[in-house]
Amino acid sequence: MSALEIARIALLVVHLVGSAAIVGSFILQMPWRERFDFSPLLVGSIVQVASGCALVAVRRIGDMPVLEAKMVVKLGLALVVLALVVVALVQQRRLRAAGASDSRLRPLLYVAGFTAIADIAVAAAWT
Ligand code: HEM
Repeated sequence: MSALEIARIALLVVHLVGSAAIVGSFILQMPWRERFDFSPLLVGSIVQVASGCALVAVRRIGDMPVLEAKMVVKLGLALVVLALVVVALVQQRRLRAAGASDSRLRPLLYVAGFTAIADIAVAAAWT
């Protein structure tokens, strides 16, 4: 097995763990009504963008096929997740400083979680 193939597999493992961090923490918090923890979604979405771009680079270097349109869609969805989580964290900090509940951030958690699941669907279905 070549060094490039080892790098691709290691990055893919990181990519799958990042995906699990987002979707796992979303599913865990689905029944919650307040005091959400957006940090696993933040770390997960940063990991997905970084490892996804690195996977594209490794595949290009190794002359492996890369579906450009699929990658643009995946990157777009991942950036939506990241943006939603950053907005949620900023809002949560403001609400906490005011001593208010963060219950109104629940829709942001749901949209971020389902957007990440849509990214998994794109990864699986677009071949
Ligand atoms: C929330 C964001 C994301 C999720 C949940 C996600 C999920 C997945 C999953 C489950 C796979 C394995 C299935 C497959 O091989 O098709 C995969 C593979 C892949 N993803 Fe993502 N992904 C995300 C973001 C990205 C981004 C932003 C990029 C790059 C711009 C990217 C590039 C890739 C590539 C190149 C593979 C194939 C790896 C290989 O087999 O060599 N992904 N992704």
